[in-house]
Amino acid sequence: MKLEGFNPPFTKIAPYYDRLMSFVNYRSWVNHIERIIMMHNIKEKILLDIACGTGVCLELWLEKGYRVIGLDASESMLDVCRKRFSQNLLNNGRVKLIQQDMRNFSLDEQVPVATCLYDSLNYLLTSEELLNCFKSVYLNLKDGGIFVFDMNTRHALEVEWGNQRFERRDGPIHSIWDNTFEPVTGISTLKLTLNVYQNGDIFTFKEIHQERAYPIDEIKKLLSQVGFEVNLYRHLTFNPASEFDTRIMGVARKI
Ligand SMILES: C[S@@+](CC[C@H](N)C(=O)[O-])C[C@H]1O[C@@H](n2cnc3c(N)ncnc32)[C@H](O)[C@@H]1O
Repeated sequence: MKLEGFNPPFTKIAPYYDRLMSFVNYRSWVNHIERIIMMHNIKEKILLDIACGTGVCLELWLEKGYRVIGLDASESMLDVCRKRFSQNLLNNGRVKLIQQDMRNFSLDEQVPVATCLYDSLNYLLTSEELLNCFKSVYLNLKDGGIFVFDMNTRHALEVEWGNQRFERRDGPIHSIWDNTFEPVTGISTLKLTLNVYQNGDIFTFKEIHQERAYPIDEIKKLLSQVGFEVNLYRHLTFNPASEFDTRIMGVARKI
């Protein structure tokens, strides 16, 4: 979607992303996923993070002894991500960053674990795109490997975000989040404005973001169609996912 004065998603926001997301407890997410990896008896410490963004989770996996691959389509998010790691880690292959589209990607190795976190899959706006992404993940996973992801539910996009404006202040960043939900398509459109205060000046950036909600049954169906064995949970729990949850978590195993 193009809108006068608004930039595409993840073009301008990258340098401010971590500050805006500083309330997210990524460490607890990674710890929970590590438990899931152990439950699947996966010993090999190699992890692909699809839509890795600025790489907060990559760094946490690295701390846990993993060799990591970060994949993202956005150059500016990857630029911020790259700065997180030393040249040594990037040169010796402990951290590999690749710019590819999650709807159709290929790695030069199959991995035992892939993740895709924090709404990233909701950015795929058609079932076909979501299916294509699941197919790519499947092809790039080892047999017995797992794909762990989260997604916003329709409840999150329609009720929690709805047709509302939120405003926040995070240090020097004043952000305005204008949400509109379209019930027929299940798509939420966010017009995001960032006013950044720096040395007495104000810099304004605008981006447009769209996320689509998929019914739980459809997510399961698409993953099964590709060949995955699937379980969907309420985020960060092992309770079955429900349409009343805000965020759900999927664990798909390549069989
Ligand atoms: C909400 S951010 C999440 C970033 C990171 N996973 C996190 O937890 O902070 C969504 C990310 O998805 C990426 N993304 C969106 N569409 C993509 C696509 N088709 N292929 C690859 N990356 C994509 C964006 O560039 C952005 O970095």
